[in-house]
Amino acid sequence: MTLPQHLPPQIRERTVSKARTLIEALPFMREHFGKAIVVKYGGAAMEQAGLARPFAEDVSLLLQAGIRPVIVHGGGPQVTHYSTRLGIETTFVDGLRVTDTETLDVATMVLAGKVSTEIVAAMNANGVAAVGLSGVDGGLLLARKRSAPDLGFVGEVVRVNAEIVRTLLDRRFVPVVASIAVDEQGQSYNVNADAVASEIAVALGAEKLVFISDVPGLIGPSGDLLSELGARDCRDLLALGGVVEGGMIPKLESAVRALDAGVGRVHLVDGRVEHSLVLELFTPEGVGTMIAPDAPGPEEERP
Ligand SMILES: Nc1ncnc2c1ncn2[C@@H]1O[C@H](COP(=O)(O)OP(=O)(O)OP(=O)(O)O)[C@@H](O)[C@H]1O
Ligand SMILES: [Mg+2]
Repeated sequence: MTLPQHLPPQIRERTVSKARTLIEALPFMREHFGKAIVVKYGGAAMEQAGLARPFAEDVSLLLQAGIRPVIVHGGGPQVTHYSTRLGIETTFVDGLRVTDTETLDVATMVLAGKVSTEIVAAMNANGVAAVGLSGVDGGLLLARKRSAPDLGFVGEVVRVNAEIVRTLLDRRFVPVVASIAVDEQGQSYNVNADAVASEIAVALGAEKLVFISDVPGLIGPSGDLLSELGARDCRDLLALGGVVEGGMIPKLESAVRALDAGVGRVHLVDGRVEHSLVLELFTPEGVGTMIAPDAPGPEEERP
């Protein structure tokens, strides 16, 4: 690029480096063009004030780059908050919320009502035509009760009917999915949002599944961030015990499930870092953890 000679050197440098950043994103934009990417937006990350807008901007950039983004949101801390206000006790078993009738009501109101509406509003305010839906809408997620241990109305996804999601994406709407699903009798279930994101990614044949949470990524046995690992390493870490705990258990299990079923890569990124989604997808460095399938195809550069 030729710049006018009269520009002061510091401005010339800044201008050139901005252009360079855009050009460096080009191969990644080409790679992701036309592909589906499922983003699980964690309730823990959502708690950070002021980050709704940069997240919406990131999704806007994905759309403009020709990516088909699907957002699945969590809302664990928010469900706990309103349960406490209503005097309902909260219990977790291996990162899954024990869900009695009252907790199911709160989860439905908070996730499919408040949290969904807030995310959709922030997206629309930033030029993204987002549409909120839960697993109930358009028959998106068929669930059954999870057995052993009995956690009440905690469901697991039996079938995904991604028609509604595809229809929205084809019309350039961004689906924002709350993790409530129903069984064939119409009974609702609270399903872990990581599992929902994973099943939707599989159904869409997504290129990537990105978990946005409140940690830098997966922290390994020595306390360091693991920036790249394979599905088999994740299985080993889960079996090891003591390293992967709480909400990271369903997240890693969902990551492995997605990779085994053909999703290209899983990423864990820190939602407390502004624009972490764009950084992970469009820069060579990446910012979090990248997990590859067991039998990778031809060598692929991250992300
Ligand atoms: N090895 C690990 N590496 C990183 N985080 C871990 C690890 N083991 C346990 N965790 C915990 O997992 C948490 C992330 O899961 P959590 O379910 O709380 O968040 P989320 O899934 O992003 O939000 P939500 O459940 O509301 O959608 C982290 O805050 C961290 O405390
Ligand atoms: Mg979680």
